[in-house]
Amino acid sequence: MAELTQDAAQLEAAAERTARRAERAWAWSMGAIIALMLALIVFTTLHWGMQPPSSVETIDSMRLQLGGEFSEANLGTSVSPDGAVTVRVLAQQYAFVPKCIVVPADTPITLRAVSADVVHGFIVQGTNVNTMVIPGYVATLSTRFAQPGEHRMPCHEFCGVGHQGMWAQVRVVVREQFPFEQAAEAAVNCEKR
Ligand code: CUA
Repeated sequence: MAELTQDAAQLEAAAERTARRAERAWAWSMGAIIALMLALIVFTTLHWGMQPPSSVETIDSMRLQLGGEFSEANLGTSVSPDGAVTVRVLAQQYAFVPKCIVVPADTPITLRAVSADVVHGFIVQGTNVNTMVIPGYVATLSTRFAQPGEHRMPCHEFCGVGHQGMWAQVRVVVREQFPFEQAAEAAVNCEKR
């Protein structure tokens, strides 16, 4: 009888050691995953200039077309009196307005986007431009395109049956080719410049 009790005690101790080992391995691997995620956030922030959209600026999505900052004439690229370049984009099922955005290369650019209906989003590959566009909010991003070139700007939030066909083009031109004077008077795009 005494022998049996001793065996049981030994088994229990062995089981506890196994459980402890498994728990420790679990805790370390979870810690490693959290550390990796934090490191990725720090890396993309510092190295790619990734930034979460401000999302604190609200706007009435039902009244966008009735005038104000995102009325049709203001959509596209404009240059303010202090020389700042701002691109205003309207996202709606299933297109971006303007469909083709033109911007000067090697110039600080502010992107401001709104949605007229549901949640959309967009990414410009090879840049830090990547945001959701949530109805009721203005998504604002700062960027700079180092080189002239063409970029695709697809919608990356599922927004309905036409989602996969929703994309815009970003045309980055050398500064000398960008119509700064026209853009100071009214917003320009690839067709209107
Ligand atoms: Cu808009 Cu997907």
